[in-house]
Amino acid sequence: MEFISIKEAKSQGTGEVSLRGWVYRERGSKKLKFVVLRDSADIIQLVIEKEVIGEEAFLVADKLRLEASIEVSGTIKKDDRAPGGYEVAVKEFSVVGECADFPLGQDQSPEFLLDNRHLSIRTRKQAAILRIRSAYVQAREQFFREEGFFRFDTPILQPTQSEGGSTIFEVKYYQEKTYLAQTWQFYGEAGIFALEKIYNFGPTFRAEKSKTSRHLSEFWMAEMEAAWFKLKDVSEFAKKELKYCIKQTAERCRDDFIILEQDPDALIAMTEREWPTIKYREALALIKEKDGIEVPFGKDLRTEEEKAIMSHFDTPVCVTHYPVEAMGFYKPRDPENPDEALCFDMLAPQIGIEIVGGSERSLDVKDMEERLAADGEDITQYSWYMDLRRMGSVPHSGYGVGTERVLQWITGTENIKDCIPFPRTMLRFKP
Ligand code: 4AD
Ligand code: MG
Repeated sequence: MEFISIKEAKSQGTGEVSLRGWVYRERGSKKLKFVVLRDSADIIQLVIEKEVIGEEAFLVADKLRLEASIEVSGTIKKDDRAPGGYEVAVKEFSVVGECADFPLGQDQSPEFLLDNRHLSIRTRKQAAILRIRSAYVQAREQFFREEGFFRFDTPILQPTQSEGGSTIFEVKYYQEKTYLAQTWQFYGEAGIFALEKIYNFGPTFRAEKSKTSRHLSEFWMAEMEAAWFKLKDVSEFAKKELKYCIKQTAERCRDDFIILEQDPDALIAMTEREWPTIKYREALALIKEKDGIEVPFGKDLRTEEEKAIMSHFDTPVCVTHYPVEAMGFYKPRDPENPDEALCFDMLAPQIGIEIVGGSERSLDVKDMEERLAADGEDITQYSWYMDLRRMGSVPHSGYGVGTERVLQWITGTENIKDCIPFPRTMLRFKP
């Protein structure tokens, strides 16, 4: 007998099918048992009748508990009353793996679910998020291939900080110290001199001291770097990437968005609209006028301010020209307004959080060394990075997308922890 997926069985619609998966729900009487079977993408109702399968087999079926794995054969038919819209009248079945006391049920606390993450990734909503994650990442690979970019993979263990010493994880490295990557960017900047247009996707580490619903200690940043790109090129390209990936994902994962009570068509429509770009100074003026929030020029935006800005938009927005003093040493000054950096963040509507951060890269060695020194960094450690400015330097730009942040937004998930299979946060590194 050849097993098919539940989705394939439903599109077959009639006749004999063989299915396998896990018990998602079960109830029954002395003669009749209803089991909802789930596989990696769908659910279907099984009807097991004592008269059909015999007394002995029915005894086994009657003992089936949640999450036991089973194989069944039977006849499928449409039934609007059944969960999933179809029903299989079972003729044969066998238990592959019994399940004793599956601990998850209704109404468990988020912490309990995370303590049992090895089991809770099986739940219907969680699996839907993980399928969307997979589709999103695959769409992004396709986007960069179509755009003529090369994939460029770089070390996770790095000799210096890159996004600020306060969030760096230290790792013992034989007799020395290294650090877990806070970004791929510096190696990406070296890579563009060989390959011009590159991207990657990899784990990124930040020892965030904040316990918020949008910070992870380990997340997957989706970065790109391109020779010759200026701020306008790179911020427009970021919009193009996100529009492409979100549209593809919404088209491919309709059912999953519906499980999550999100409207895939609204997402698709959003990708077809214009996404605005505004300057940081304009964003400050907007929330001062409309929300009475006053932020002095010179600070990075805090969550409340990002949320206030985004309450006035229903698509993502690129905010450019943040104050130099609040930005990393590699973000260049705008020659026209030297207190502003040639950088951008993309903020998401609805949840109002930063999903992308990027910039042109400074080519001014002296300015960068001064800014590093002011942060207490040993500039000799950055000499290889400064070489890139001395040896055939070209304008270049790039950005990083917080994959879990984008997923959190498009799936309408409350906490970012549910957008990665096994979250790592300040308070959690198990299981
Ligand atoms: O803005 P960030 O810090 O930018 C960089 O690291 C640049 N070097 C990227 C580049 O230009 N190549 O981080 C980029 C994005 C943020 O916009 C955010 O979406 C996400 O990464 N991010 C986090 N996501 C989850 N948890 C955290 N702790 C995050 N920190 C940043
Ligand atoms: Mg940022």
